[in-house]
Amino acid sequence: MEFMKAIEERMSIRSFKDKDVDDKLIEKILYCGNCAPSGGNLQPWEFIIIKNQKTKRKIVDATFIGNDFDGLKHQEWMMSAPVFIVVCADVERSRARYGKKAEESLIYLDCSACIENMLLAIVDLGLASCFVSGYREKELIKALSLPVDIRPLAILPIGHADIIPQKRKKKEVSAFIHYEDFGNKGL
Ligand SMILES: Cc1cc2nc3c(=O)[nH]c(=O)nc-3n(C[C@H](O)[C@H](O)[C@H](O)COP(=O)(O)O)c2cc1C
Repeated sequence: MEFMKAIEERMSIRSFKDKDVDDKLIEKILYCGNCAPSGGNLQPWEFIIIKNQKTKRKIVDATFIGNDFDGLKHQEWMMSAPVFIVVCADVERSRARYGKKAEESLIYLDCSACIENMLLAIVDLGLASCFVSGYREKELIKALSLPVDIRPLAILPIGHADIIPQKRKKKEVSAFIHYEDFGNKGL
């Protein structure tokens, strides 16, 4: 797919067909994630691939809806995706070089670049996904038996799109552009 088309066509999909995703496509998605830039080229990401229904259930049970952190409702729609990729950061890999800055920002910046590459690759491959971070971290760590210093940063449920909603409207980019300074004349 043409690059601009992949950018424009990417959208969050929350409903998937009952159809598996080829392992070769998963490998391609991970390859694209790993091409992303990272501070000091440390590549602090780790990927966990989940297809097993029981593990998917445990993961979804750790999610919540909106900002209802302690709510009993989960992001049930995720169960329709045949595969999840959980993107984690190896905090120590970044901390060993960058100290406090690793946890303050670098692992999030690095892994977000990686995740966006993956989301675009998913569109390019004719698949669909949604960036999910609405989960209770401790519960997710337990569900995946993650070792110390492996921090989950996002879940990407991946599959073939079923229900395609209306595209979310974006404000015009001109609303966010500032030339030379932010325009706070009084400062
Ligand atoms: C950091 C981050 C966390 C998100 N977490 C969730 C989530 O937990 N559940 C969900 O359904 N969507 C989640 N989203 C998707 C956003 O709701 C979505 O990107 C936004 O509404 C814009 O829609 P679009 O992706 O179709 O452009 C998240 C997106 C980002 C970037």
